[in-house]
Amino acid sequence: MQVSLIVLAAGLGSRMNSDLPKVLHPLAGVPMLHHALAAGRALEPSRVVVVTGHGAEQVSKSALAYDEACEFVVQDPQLGTAHAVAQAAPLLADAPGDAIVLYGDTPFVRAETLEAMRAARATHAVVILGFVPADPARYGRLIVDGDQLVRIVEYQDATADERAITLCNSGVVCAEARTLFQLVSQVGNQNAAGEYYLTDIVELACALGLSVGFVTCDESETLGINTRAQLAAAEAAFQTRARAEALENGVTLTAPETVFFALDTHIGRDATVGPNVIFGPAVTIESGAEIKGFCHLEGCHVSRGAVVGPFARLRPGAELAEDVHVGNFVEIKNAVLDEGVKVGHLTYIGDAHIGEFTNIGAGTVTCNYDGVMKHRTTIGKRVFIGSDTMLVAPVTVGDDALTASGSVITEDVPAAALALGRARQVNKPGLATALMARLKAIKAAKGKS
Ligand code: UD1
Ligand code: CA
Repeated sequence: MQVSLIVLAAGLGSRMNSDLPKVLHPLAGVPMLHHALAAGRALEPSRVVVVTGHGAEQVSKSALAYDEACEFVVQDPQLGTAHAVAQAAPLLADAPGDAIVLYGDTPFVRAETLEAMRAARATHAVVILGFVPADPARYGRLIVDGDQLVRIVEYQDATADERAITLCNSGVVCAEARTLFQLVSQVGNQNAAGEYYLTDIVELACALGLSVGFVTCDESETLGINTRAQLAAAEAAFQTRARAEALENGVTLTAPETVFFALDTHIGRDATVGPNVIFGPAVTIESGAEIKGFCHLEGCHVSRGAVVGPFARLRPGAELAEDVHVGNFVEIKNAVLDEGVKVGHLTYIGDAHIGEFTNIGAGTVTCNYDGVMKHRTTIGKRVFIGSDTMLVAPVTVGDDALTASGSVITEDVPAAALALGRARQVNKPGLATALMARLKAIKAAKGKS
């Protein structure tokens, strides 16, 4: 059966005390919103509708960066969660199959949990995701009768007895799309907050004789982020899980508690990661590669047998083939390094292609930026780039060529050629001693005056 997603992301998030919309605050290297979209994507939804409000433009731009098929509705003003869902009616009221409501500020719902909710739809018209938190605090409470959910009561509207209930509402809902919009259209705002509560659909469904069920999950999945302290706690929770998963998947982490992962970090079995390594978004490390300590990687691919670091930085578009070696204080950006390339020390490679088994000497720079535009450097196979070579792009160095140390290469180098681009050295016999004697005499004379 088809499924559509409705992701609520209109709220201001005032407790974040921020100009940035809450759902765009980064978590595990990506905007918080992307986590919910990722969990939903596992269901292969036919439509994804994001309800925006505060910072609508920024939020939709970010959602599109994750999934360009996302659609948007704007909720203005924000009159509650049922009102938010109702905004999606023009797009989804006639959508075939189910609809699932997710929250932009609830990042850790697992795809397996959403699958369990869909499975429960076989016996219930509406399925709610519940959980039993250590501290039920101000969550809505689920009032159940056997396997039937009878009502959800918001904390503010609950009696003391109802507040004593520990089974709480996560907010996640799964129902047939048509049913969901029918129910939502009937919700009123006669409650303590004067808001249109999505939770009221439970009672409305029951009144129509529909079966309402619930699925439960671990509290860690429903953790909602309202403050920066909760954001930091969520980050810590994510990292703890990601480290454990990497170890479980056969990755060696020398000091797991010092390694930071992004939502989409992929590391192959038998890869090794040293201490204090940070993975930004979109990194893939193949099996058997080694990332030594203190490296920072984002948007890059490291192949089998490659060794990176310590103290290396791989930026977006860095593509390292098998057995490449990138050493300390080397930065690589938007560059392909073919098999066996060695860039050992103190080097910047940007907007470049380097052919197999080429060696790049210490202190080499691809001068890719002229202050206005970026230009490419192309280096062939088995080339030896001497230390401290400045490659002023656009420039091409042919296969098996060699550049002399300290060269500034502004013209293409043909294959197999030696390129010298530096001033010729002149030695003046005895002049060093004479020069020093003269300088010392000047200093002595000044001292007397
Ligand atoms: C909601 C639930 C509560 C549940 C809790 C779980 C309701 C009425 N209550 O309460 O039972 O225990 O979540 O965290 O649903 N939003 C909009 N537009 C609006 C209002 C909210 O898009 O008009 C979005 C918010 O940006 C947020 C989400 O919906 O992502 C939840 O809204 P919030 O106000 O945080 O609901 P809670 O009071 O936490
Ligand atoms: Ca909330």
